[in-house]
Amino acid sequence: MSHTPPVCAPHGDIIQAAVDREEPPQLSQAQLLWIAALLDGLAAQRSGAAEGLRFLVFGVGLDSDVWAAVNCQGRTAFLEDSEEWIGRIRGSHPGLEVHHVTYQGRLSAAQEFFKQPWLMDVPQSVQGACWDAILVDAPRGFRPYHPGCMESAYYAVHTARRCTAAGRAHHVLVFLHDVNRPVESQIVQRIFSGPGIRPLGVIKGQLGDLAAFSIAQAPS
Ligand SMILES: C[S@@+](CC[C@H](N)C(=O)[O-])C[C@H]1O[C@@H](n2cnc3c(N)ncnc32)[C@H](O)[C@@H]1O
Repeated sequence: MSHTPPVCAPHGDIIQAAVDREEPPQLSQAQLLWIAALLDGLAAQRSGAAEGLRFLVFGVGLDSDVWAAVNCQGRTAFLEDSEEWIGRIRGSHPGLEVHHVTYQGRLSAAQEFFKQPWLMDVPQSVQGACWDAILVDAPRGFRPYHPGCMESAYYAVHTARRCTAAGRAHHVLVFLHDVNRPVESQIVQRIFSGPGIRPLGVIKGQLGDLAAFSIAQAPS
């Protein structure tokens, strides 16, 4: 029996409804639309593939249901460290795939991480998986005692490299929010650099600038 994938609502409608809410997402409308358009482009390149896009999102928030709706034919998995936010999102959107993770680093120790990075632990159903797109918008990183996005960004780039090298993804889109902040700007220089990584641009936002990168297999 053939399986007919669900028809996703138009992205513009999904995003307009989200930004019109009393509590809108922190990503701006232009940033949400940009991510959705790049995901669309990726899906169009992959048309004919049996499954939808594989989308990994660091952090839940007021945008979580947007990503599940935009990628309604694929798998969207969320990694979140805050039990409070997990409870909130599971309450409002029980169908979402949300996993708890723990970060070991601290923003105040970001330089130590850059000198000797480590690969964070992820749940078994995520470990070893490959993704077509990864959004890094967590964990929080605006106080010295916050974990900062070093571990999540490093995991995203490492995973993109592993999956492209293994031929399990042609290229991976990675989005990084808050690139206007000092540590995120260092993350761009130190983690989003090297062969195979192509910057796609930056969209400014009132609550943080968003950068996108395409990560393909490094030329040998
Ligand atoms: C930058 S927020 C993620 C925001 C989300 N991408 C959005 O556009 O609404 C990063 C972390 O802060 C927490 N968080 C999520 N939404 C939040 C909000 N509206 N206000 C404060 N903290 C939030 C969660 O623990 C999340 O992992």
